[in-house]
Amino acid sequence: MSSVRPRRKTSVTDIRRRKDGDPFVCLTAYTAMMAEILDPHVDVLLVGDSVGTVLHGHDSTIPVGMDEMLLHARSVARANPNSLFVVDMPFGSYEASADVAFKNASLVLKETGADAVKLEGGVTQADTIRFLVERGIPVMAHIGLRPQAVRATGGYRIVGKTQEECDALRADADAVDAAGAFSVVLEGVVEPVAREITAQIDIPTIGIGASPACDGQILVTEDLLGMFDRTPKFVRRFAQLRETIDAAVADYAAAVRKRQFPSDAEVYANDNGD
Ligand code: KIV
Repeated sequence: MSSVRPRRKTSVTDIRRRKDGDPFVCLTAYTAMMAEILDPHVDVLLVGDSVGTVLHGHDSTIPVGMDEMLLHARSVARANPNSLFVVDMPFGSYEASADVAFKNASLVLKETGADAVKLEGGVTQADTIRFLVERGIPVMAHIGLRPQAVRATGGYRIVGKTQEECDALRADADAVDAAGAFSVVLEGVVEPVAREITAQIDIPTIGIGASPACDGQILVTEDLLGMFDRTPKFVRRFAQLRETIDAAVADYAAAVRKRQFPSDAEVYANDNGD
């Protein structure tokens, strides 16, 4: 049984106030069942476009569309999360113009009850972030390694190793802060730069592969649960669910093949109905 007590709904303002406080906790969720399990333990639940790779078998987040994001966000909404409920804007849903971004982001809020949206980009998306925030849509920014941009950047590369990349990252962080984002994900950023950016800007940073220097941390839940064969350096497997599922399914298959499942206790008799 969980030892976590019920709490009131976390707001964007609550997250903003976590700057320089105790680190806050964020995880991804794509379904009501997972959201229900995670919600008592986390401050932020993100319906990430990583759903494309984690659940739908794509090799990147690029194919994910608005329909899939809305489907999964509606599912998470049914768990009624107390944590801040953030939904990713998928590739192609916000880059063309601030108007397009507003149309799609407002759809996300209306259709799913999300508290905020997340979008990738720093300097290039600052005007769009400002446009959304001024019209009542809270935005979590996402800079550093941007999975939606891997076709252009040449793959999943850690960022901040050259002076040019450091300068660009600092400029991105300043731009999203000034544009009114309430927090910013730093993905795949080397530790000294993540530390520097966290000290430099007024909004909380949320690290994924960006060191403990960040104000909060996020992971893809299936990574921390150990559902994948491959474990990137920045992930810790807090459980070994892949092995657990494999063993459970092997036991089930063996029991069925030997007619050991279902047993008498698992069969409905037609006499007294139990
Ligand atoms: O899509 C996602 O899950 C994300 C987080 C891991 C930051 O963007």
